[in-house]
Amino acid sequence: MTSQSSATPLLDEPQMVLRILDHIDNKATDMGEETWVEPVVNYQSPDRLAAEINLLKSRFVVFCPSQSLANTGDYLARNAAGTPLIAVRGEDGTAKVFRNACRHRGVQLAEGQGCKRVLVCPYHGWAYGLDGRLKNIPHRAGFPDFDAEANGLVAVPSREVNGLIYVCQDGADDGTNDAASLDVIPNLIPDGYELMTTEEVEVDANWKLYLESALEGYHIRSTHTQTFYPAQYDNLTVVEAFGGNSRVTYPYQTIERLRDRPQSEWSTNGRLTQVYHLFPNVVVSTFPNCLQIGVLEPLGLEKTRRHTYLLGDIGYKDATKAEAMKKSILEGQEFAKAGNVEDVEVVVSAQQGLNSGANTHLTFGLFESAIGRLHAGLHRELG
Ligand code: FES
Repeated sequence: MTSQSSATPLLDEPQMVLRILDHIDNKATDMGEETWVEPVVNYQSPDRLAAEINLLKSRFVVFCPSQSLANTGDYLARNAAGTPLIAVRGEDGTAKVFRNACRHRGVQLAEGQGCKRVLVCPYHGWAYGLDGRLKNIPHRAGFPDFDAEANGLVAVPSREVNGLIYVCQDGADDGTNDAASLDVIPNLIPDGYELMTTEEVEVDANWKLYLESALEGYHIRSTHTQTFYPAQYDNLTVVEAFGGNSRVTYPYQTIERLRDRPQSEWSTNGRLTQVYHLFPNVVVSTFPNCLQIGVLEPLGLEKTRRHTYLLGDIGYKDATKAEAMKKSILEGQEFAKAGNVEDVEVVVSAQQGLNSGANTHLTFGLFESAIGRLHAGLHRELG
């Protein structure tokens, strides 16, 4: 069995295939160097949750894919770490993120997604440009001393890197905040991928319990008996670290067809799923010809909302080809959704099990090292 160190760079495609075939031949998997023991109180403490939410505000965290703001005036509004934010594609093509609150009396300017040239507050009609400037106050004479120039929408520091828009709520918006942590994240979104769907689901469990279910393949056979297991392997993953992040690779059995082909022809598209955990609360999961970006929003100790953005390889000029690919991807996603339902069932059960008082600590085994890295990162950041 293979150990991985935190200094290991991400494997390239041939290296990954070789590692997987070696594991198949030896009935092995990647293993961490030590188990991780996490106190249950860290899932139950309101103070700990408040600290975790503050952490989500203090770092650059994925807000949405660039594709959610494909055109000028496109906007996406949602809560991030409990704060209502709105991301907008401006006239100059740049994406900006603002606190979603009118400077009059705080009403949110928009909900969900759409496209507008002007953001008009639904309460009294104050109007803001896509750059956040306050452009119009109806019955202006009622606010003789109000400085409209100084009261545009409040910007949140953001970065658009490799097709993802990140926000850092507690940073200064003067370019001085540290975005270096983003440098280690590879370009995860292939050319031609376009936004296909945006979904939200709420799960009655702590956000970490939900996240943990995506970070190990130890449960494939038991939990996904009729879904993933027939096509994959039980407890066979490749686990890598980059920065404080992880990549967990889940091969499909079709990868064995590569044995008889020259390495120059090895392509893993359609032969594995890779889950990139972008610390702390984001997972990017690859599937054949598509990927999901999942952002976990803690709503309480036992409630989590997952925002999921599905991007697919549908950027073909040929409409028939694009439509066929779209159909194929959406059919495949039904399979992934069935697996997610199974994950949610065990995660909600785990939440209830935590509340039983049976365990004071949870132990994560050597196969579950990406979960250990998640908790180690939280311990490092929160003390
Ligand atoms: Fe927005 Fe009054 S609260 S215009």
